Amino acid sequence: MAEFAGKVAFITGAAHGQGRAVALALAQQGADIAALDVARQLAYPGYRLAEADELRTLQAEVEGLGRRALVFAADVRDEAAMAAAVRQTAAELGG
Ligand SMILES: NC(=O)c1ccc[n+]([C@@H]2O[C@H](COP(=O)([O-])OP(=O)(O)OC[C@H]3O[C@@H](n4cnc5c(N)ncnc54)[C@H](O)[C@@H]3O)[C@@H](O)[C@H]2O)c1
Repeated sequence: MAEFAGKVAFITGAAHGQGRAVALALAQQGADIAALDVARQLAYPGYRLAEADELRTLQAEVEGLGRRALVFAADVRDEAAMAAAVRQTAAELGG
């Protein structure tokens, strides 16, 4: 089954936890993945956030499933960075 074949999923908080699990589940179901995560430690909230390496390993895992993957290290509060990531995703993956 490839319920999401031909679709592109843009996922924030994608390097770790629920975001990563969703990215891999959608890739298994045929979606190409744009994965965005801050991928560095922030002063707030104070607990461990993802590391840059987790974005790289996610990209490799998605590609290992035969899907295309773009990864972005960006903060969701940075509107310009978010817009640039969406533009690049649409240009390279479509959708
Ligand atoms: N784990 C649960 O059972 C559960 C249940 C319900 C809701 N939630 C909510 O779902 C969300 C994700 O939960 P999780 O357990 O996967 O958390 P997590 O901490 O494992 O993952 C969150 C991801 O978001 C990234 N991130 C944090 N701030 C960011 C920012 N400003 N810009 C971009 N990326 C950022 C982190 O680096 C991390 O990779 C949280 O808001 C959580 O409160 C979690």
